Amino acid sequence: MKQNQPVIVALDLPNELAVRQLVERLDPALCRLKVGKELFTATGPALVKDLVRQGYQVFLDLKFHDIPNTVAGACRVAADLGVWMVDVHAAGGPAMLEAARLALEGSRAGQQRPLLVAITVLTSFNQETLHAIGVQGDVPAAVLRLAGLAQAAGLDGVVCSAAEAKVLRARFAPPFLLVTPGIRLPGAAPDDQVRIVTPRAACASGADFLVIGRPITGSADPRATLQQINAELQELNAS
Ligand code: C5P
Repeated sequence: MKQNQPVIVALDLPNELAVRQLVERLDPALCRLKVGKELFTATGPALVKDLVRQGYQVFLDLKFHDIPNTVAGACRVAADLGVWMVDVHAAGGPAMLEAARLALEGSRAGQQRPLLVAITVLTSFNQETLHAIGVQGDVPAAVLRLAGLAQAAGLDGVVCSAAEAKVLRARFAPPFLLVTPGIRLPGAAPDDQVRIVTPRAACASGADFLVIGRPITGSADPRATLQQINAELQELNAS
C-alpha cells in the first residue's frame, strides 16, 4: 500500500459538538474523515462542507442504492459538496453503477471528481442472510462477483472486510482500491466487530485505505493513537 494517508477516521459520533471537539485534535495531514448516515442525517451537508473547508478529505459514506437516475443525482450533489470519496451498493447493478460513475465524471468541471467505491457484501451478512435474500453461492463468491461489477462499470474500487482483501487483491490489481473497515490495534477490544485485523495486517493483505472508528474516536488521545498507527504503517511500507 502506497497511500500517504491511509487512515480514514469514521466520525460515528452523536452530534456536531462531539465531531468538532474530535476534529480539532486531528489534522488533515494525518488522516481523512468518514461521514456516515447517522451523522449526515443529524447534521446535513453543512458539516460536510465545513470539514472540507478545514482541509479534510471526506468520504461521504451514504451507500446509495436506488434507480440509476436517482443515484446519479445524489452522486452529483455529493460531488458539489467537495467530498473526496462516495459509495454506492454494487448490488444496485451495472446500469446504476455506470450512472453513478458518469454523474461524477461530469461534475465539478476543472476540479478533481470524487472517488467512487462500491459496497460488495456488508460485513453484517453471513451465508444465511445471503440466501434469505435469494443470493446463491457463498459470501466470498458474492463479494468477487459484485467487485467484478464495480470494476466493469469503471468504479475506483470497493469497500470490503480485511478478511476479503487478499482474495480481492489477487483478482483486482491496483489502482483498483480496497477500502477496509474492522481494524483494531493489537490486543484491543473488538467492540461489535467480528472479523477484525490490525492496521499492518490489513495493509499487508492489499488494503489501500483503512476505515477506523472507535480505536481513534474513543482514545484518550486520538491524535497520538492516529500517529502511532501512521508510524506503524510507514514502517511497513519502508520494509
Ligand atoms: O468503530 P469502528 O472502527 O468499528 O468503525 C468502523 C466503521 O466502518 C463504521 O463507520 C462502520 O459503519 C463502517 N463499516 C463497517 N463494516 C462495513 C462497512 C462499513 O464496519 N462492512
